[in-house]
Amino acid sequence: MDQDQQKQAVAQAALDYLAPRLERDSIIGVGTGSTANYFIDLLAEIHTEFDGAVASSEATAERLKAHGIPVYDLNSVGPIEFYVDGADETNPHLELIKGGGAALTREKIVAAVAKTFICIADASKQVETLGAFPLPVEVIPMARSHVGREIVRLGGDPVYRDGVTTDNGNIIIDIYNMDLSRPIVAEEQLNQIVGVVTNGLFARRPADLLLLGTDSGVEHIERPPA
Ligand code: 5RP
Repeated sequence: MDQDQQKQAVAQAALDYLAPRLERDSIIGVGTGSTANYFIDLLAEIHTEFDGAVASSEATAERLKAHGIPVYDLNSVGPIEFYVDGADETNPHLELIKGGGAALTREKIVAAVAKTFICIADASKQVETLGAFPLPVEVIPMARSHVGREIVRLGGDPVYRDGVTTDNGNIIIDIYNMDLSRPIVAEEQLNQIVGVVTNGLFARRPADLLLLGTDSGVEHIERPPA
């Protein structure tokens, strides 16, 4: 299977996992990106079997609505059982780098609320140690230079993502070459910088289940005990 076929296979696997677990009043958290888009398109097939969705980006909200799936404000719903989203990298602890699509803050919020975070990813996303993929950080625009200097102090190389404004009206700085061997520590250090909204490390709240696309099919990998 090529990368795109793996993305489609994991989207289908997520649907197969969810379908028997949904109730008529279920709200599903839905992520952002090309893998999540495959999932949204499949979700449309069973949209009468659950209530609706909470979206992690404007793009996802539009796609869900186009399929006739009701999209709710997170503040207007109760508990969310499942959040389904892609990733840019995952390590064996199911700690992730996310935010390649600049939706990291809303993704992190929905992941925090959901009881079960199902990550859907093709094999290229699986790594031993996070950090080959540049780590996205959402930053308040006026703090750009300050945050950049603080990132250098932490040992990273900050690069402003030109021409990108997040759904929240902020900018993205991508961090290259930072030591992410202790993801929870790095996540907390970066979030301490004034002007950072959040960063794309999902280590304090990792995925619970990884559906990983491989050449030979989809692997179901549960997060190992801490
Ligand atoms: C968006 C994300 C995506 O989940 C991540 O970039 C993976 O994208 P894709 O499924 O297109 O490979 O974090 O902010």
